[in-house]
Amino acid sequence: MSENVYQIAIDGPSGSGKSTLAKGAATKLGIMYLDTGAMYRTCGLCALKSGIGTKDTDAVKKMLDSMDLKIKFADGVQHMILNGEDVTGSIRTPEVSRAASDISSLPIVRTAMVDMQRKIAADQSFVVDGRDIGSVVLPNAKYKFFLTASAEARAQRRFLELQEKGTPQALEDVLKDIIWRDKQDSERAASPLVKVDDAIEIDTSNIGIEETLDLLLSYIKE
Ligand code: DC
Repeated sequence: MSENVYQIAIDGPSGSGKSTLAKGAATKLGIMYLDTGAMYRTCGLCALKSGIGTKDTDAVKKMLDSMDLKIKFADGVQHMILNGEDVTGSIRTPEVSRAASDISSLPIVRTAMVDMQRKIAADQSFVVDGRDIGSVVLPNAKYKFFLTASAEARAQRRFLELQEKGTPQALEDVLKDIIWRDKQDSERAASPLVKVDDAIEIDTSNIGIEETLDLLLSYIKE
């Protein structure tokens, strides 16, 4: 890795504001942004399309062997290409969210994705967000952040987002989904969501996105 290349790891639970902040930080710093959740979402979508169980290790292994997963960056926007098809717009449904959470608990899936993530972030400066970036993917990242927010605050944000997108869901269902995903993502055996000791923790429950971005950037000396 060349001297000027550096990485920023941002971890945290769903709805903590990771992707908005990671995108904002990457734009401000003029570096790339990698959304690793989109990779697990694409694996989840692939399993749903193939009609296989998202926790069936043997079937998922076969799926991984034949799956053609590519990431393309166009004008800084990450596109997920699954078997030649751009599926970027199809991976944000509640069904895919659950499939992604299930499939991401399988070690074979994690090994394959982590390997891709490390290769992508090796030669250029990147902001990378996910659950295990500071702990497993990029333990030597120059900057590590861990975002938190109460489940209620996260559900409220997600509820508004879904409304804006024209795919509304009841707030209580959104909250239930968040609590279910938190539990599964933090209790799984393989690379659970954890805050590493050298990560800076930011609680975003009561601060706006602009303020959080300023706070995060204040730690970065580039
Ligand atoms: O961040 P997200 O909601 O798009 O992530 C989708 C799922 O993928 C989530 O349930 C947790 C999982 N994930 C993971 O296990 N490790 C990552 N580095 C990123 C996401």
